[in-house]
Amino acid sequence: MSAARNTAVASAIIPRNVKFDWDEAPLHWIRDDAFSSHAINEFSYLLTSGEKFFCRVFREALPLVTDDRLRADVQAFIRQEAIHSRAHHDSIEGYLKRLGVDGGEFERHNALLFDQWLAREPYGRKVPKPLQHQWLVIRVGAVAAIEHFTASLGTFVLEAQSWERDGADPVVADLFRWHGAEEIEHRTVAYDLYRHLGGRWPLRTLLMAIVMPTLVQRMGAGLVQLMRQDPSFDRGDASLLRPAFWRAWNRGAERGNTPAPGWFARHALRFVKPGYHPINEASTEQALSYIAASPGVLAAARA
Ligand SMILES: [Fe+2]
Ligand SMILES: [Fe+2]
Repeated sequence: MSAARNTAVASAIIPRNVKFDWDEAPLHWIRDDAFSSHAINEFSYLLTSGEKFFCRVFREALPLVTDDRLRADVQAFIRQEAIHSRAHHDSIEGYLKRLGVDGGEFERHNALLFDQWLAREPYGRKVPKPLQHQWLVIRVGAVAAIEHFTASLGTFVLEAQSWERDGADPVVADLFRWHGAEEIEHRTVAYDLYRHLGGRWPLRTLLMAIVMPTLVQRMGAGLVQLMRQDPSFDRGDASLLRPAFWRAWNRGAERGNTPAPGWFARHALRFVKPGYHPINEASTEQALSYIAASPGVLAAARA
């Protein structure tokens, strides 16, 4: 890939509809690992509001894109992320709410972060005109940093064979693997857009220094939210301040079912290397071969 080409995508990104049947999925969808079941499920809350934010920022950036191929990629990215956000919203409505789970404070704080702090006009305050472009570049750069993780998580979930060993529900597993595969498919778009708008290495590094701890904090807060509603956990252990909480997280990671906080730190370092480009971070072939067999994608194609 060369920066002059503006986009590293080799083939067209395809937005696909999906169809999942949420009637049977259990709360402990990884049957033998309740903690990791929640660790993965909490992403549905984070992604529902987070990916709507991606769509808003990219629509804002679209008129500034002067390269036809990159524009087509950005448009396809927006359509994919809108479908992702809706699929996770449906999993909350049809699956987690059916089991009495409430997103509560976690969901409200995600909305504050994405809808207020990171809005074009944060908390309704107009950004001064000379800073408006930079504010857009910062938000696109933040999306690129998050997208580094979503693509890396894509590889993680596609390769997490421990899920089946531990009795994973096939529908929930497919939701996260289909999504992870499409994250790999469009992994270069946010970074290429960031570069196209003038984003450079120092800001990228600064943004990752904020995004990585924020993401781990959000994931921890989501875990706490779900654990507190699950009688199989001691309520006192559902706290970021309890060592037992972090030990449980590391146990889930050692089983191979969820990434640990250290996983996020290691992957953050890859993003800040000067020669970084997301094209080198995952395998498009691996992603497309999963999508070709994804039950959710095939069910939607039949419908
Ligand atoms: Fe997505
Ligand atoms: Fe994405």
